[in-house]
Amino acid sequence: MKIGFIGAGAVARSIAKSAIQAEHEVLLSARRGPQGLRDIVGVLGTKASAVSVEEAARLEMVVLAVPWLQVPAALEGLPNWEGRILVDTTNPFAQVEPELVLADLGGTGASELVAALAPGARVVKAFNAIRMEHYDKGPQFHGGKRVIFVSGDDQDAKAVVIGLVEQFGYASVDLGGLVAGGRMQQAGGPIAGRDWVVAP
Ligand SMILES: NC(=O)c1ccc[n+]([C@@H]2O[C@H](COP(=O)([O-])OP(=O)(O)OC[C@H]3O[C@@H](n4cnc5c(N)ncnc54)[C@H](OP(=O)(O)O)[C@@H]3O)[C@@H](O)[C@H]2O)c1
Repeated sequence: MKIGFIGAGAVARSIAKSAIQAEHEVLLSARRGPQGLRDIVGVLGTKASAVSVEEAARLEMVVLAVPWLQVPAALEGLPNWEGRILVDTTNPFAQVEPELVLADLGGTGASELVAALAPGARVVKAFNAIRMEHYDKGPQFHGGKRVIFVSGDDQDAKAVVIGLVEQFGYASVDLGGLVAGGRMQQAGGPIAGRDWVVAP
């Protein structure tokens, strides 16, 4: 499968590595444009390439991995998603330095806001509850498996993402729909940020 990425930072690179190990092709994009991604793509190897945000967004599966305040700019102006899968990894931080400050979403879930900005997308929230410092240690943990939580309203799209998570070697936990599940796993939610593991 070809997987597009909007964002080429820590999250995009970690997921891209897993995808490449699982024999997928990854197409990364960022605000700086494809020319600025040469080094990143070089490190990832021949199954990685750099494209524009528009090109990445055209693929059947697209991972959104940009800072929260950049989500509107990253999605703005893209054509209707026409049912393509958008995997939302973002967390709603209004500030990350010098300390993390959650954005005030007025009680709405972050992925609900993302879905509103991506008309026609089948949004699946995943990979956002785990910190990359944990993810990068790999799926195995003393015989158990690290958990990636997944939530989404479209069962088929969610099944595709769950399949990918399991192909990467991690355990998936289906948290249900985007509203309840998304709010549980987003930053500030009850399960966010911990290194969850399923026992062997
Ligand atoms: N780091 C973690 O442990 C972790 C874990 C789970 C979830 N998350 C969430 O995942 C998201 C990404 O985090 P990260 O740590 O990967 O961030 P990061 O390392 O700062 O990378 C952000 C990436 O987004 C790109 N970007 C910014 N604005 C853009 C735009 N308007 N259009 C296209 N690309 C744009 C940046 O490209 P340029 O450099 O060219 O601007 C950069 O490649 C955040 O929402 C974060 O809260 C992070």
